[in-house]
Amino acid sequence: MNDESPADFRSDTVTKPTPRMRAAMADAEVGDDFYGEDPTVNALQHRAAEMLGTEAALLVTGGSMANLVALMAMVPRGAGVLAEVDSDLVKWEAHATSAVAGVNLQPVVGDHGVISHEAVAEAALADDPRAPRCGLVVVENSHCASGGSVWPVAAVASVASVGLPVLCDGARLFNASVAGGYAPSDVARHCAAVTVSLYKGLGAPMGSLVCGPADLVDRMLWARRVLGGTYRQAGIIAAAGLVALDDVDRLRDDHALARLLWAELSTVLPDGTLPGPPRTNIVVARMGAHAGEFVAALGRQGVVVTEIVPGVVRFVTHRDVDESAVRRAVRAAEVAMAELGTVAR
Ligand SMILES: Cc1ncc(COP(=O)(O)O)c(C=O)c1O
Repeated sequence: MNDESPADFRSDTVTKPTPRMRAAMADAEVGDDFYGEDPTVNALQHRAAEMLGTEAALLVTGGSMANLVALMAMVPRGAGVLAEVDSDLVKWEAHATSAVAGVNLQPVVGDHGVISHEAVAEAALADDPRAPRCGLVVVENSHCASGGSVWPVAAVASVASVGLPVLCDGARLFNASVAGGYAPSDVARHCAAVTVSLYKGLGAPMGSLVCGPADLVDRMLWARRVLGGTYRQAGIIAAAGLVALDDVDRLRDDHALARLLWAELSTVLPDGTLPGPPRTNIVVARMGAHAGEFVAALGRQGVVVTEIVPGVVRFVTHRDVDESAVRRAVRAAEVAMAELGTVAR
């Protein structure tokens, strides 16, 4: 057994709020957000809209709620919504999108999460009167399941040029923008709406924003209320979010750490296990039938990871892991491979 506290690579959501966030939360000016009177919520929404280059933004609980209110506000019930086959929406939110938003997700196979113009055009132009009408395309950037891959702005523009409105699931858009060398607003320009997260990598305890034109954000506010999401003195949360938005550039450190982890792991895991080097903060290892045992062996050594889908183990770097945690993970992987009796190379 290991006495050290676990090195937790399960997700970039496991971070604890920083002392600066906690101080900002304690000192936050608040009011009743139902009446639009929470100055800290208003400041956060204003700041997010400014960063995304949109007219307005709305604070919601998290990424799933952001996607849900966006769908409820953007397309009628029964509409088709195109999304990449391994996107969070298709993999983990389809129950809510069908049961609550009443939309019909139409999965499209992408290349590292990037959907082609042709695939969207084919679905958009299908005019079979018996088929569901496609009303929206969702672009997940960065794309989590493929190892945090980054959409080029031109690829977003190309999808948007088909003519269907685009929703960017930007839970990790700041990771994508830092790695891709573009501003978040460069992507938002091609989208009808964009979501961003305050607690994935940025350290806030909760909160996402949905950003778009003012009339659309008004409809999202209605949708949030339908979901029971009326906020009151939510400035307590928004205060941490404002600190989080000051810290976007720090995501570079998480990306560098993920590259180090990838490079070191590639010396201990079998050939073909690791796809190419990560652009952002997610390393996936295709462990196949060994995945469960591998995760358990790491866990016994105090290194926590997840089998995100059967056979695929995910390591995510974030502000609460460092180089020594990476070295520990690599040592643990080496021991795990020995225990599994699998020769690295
Ligand atoms: C790309 C993406 N969008 C949305 C979500 C949903 O976020 P949550 O489960 O925190 O609501 C996730 C969760 O990991 C995600 O990776």
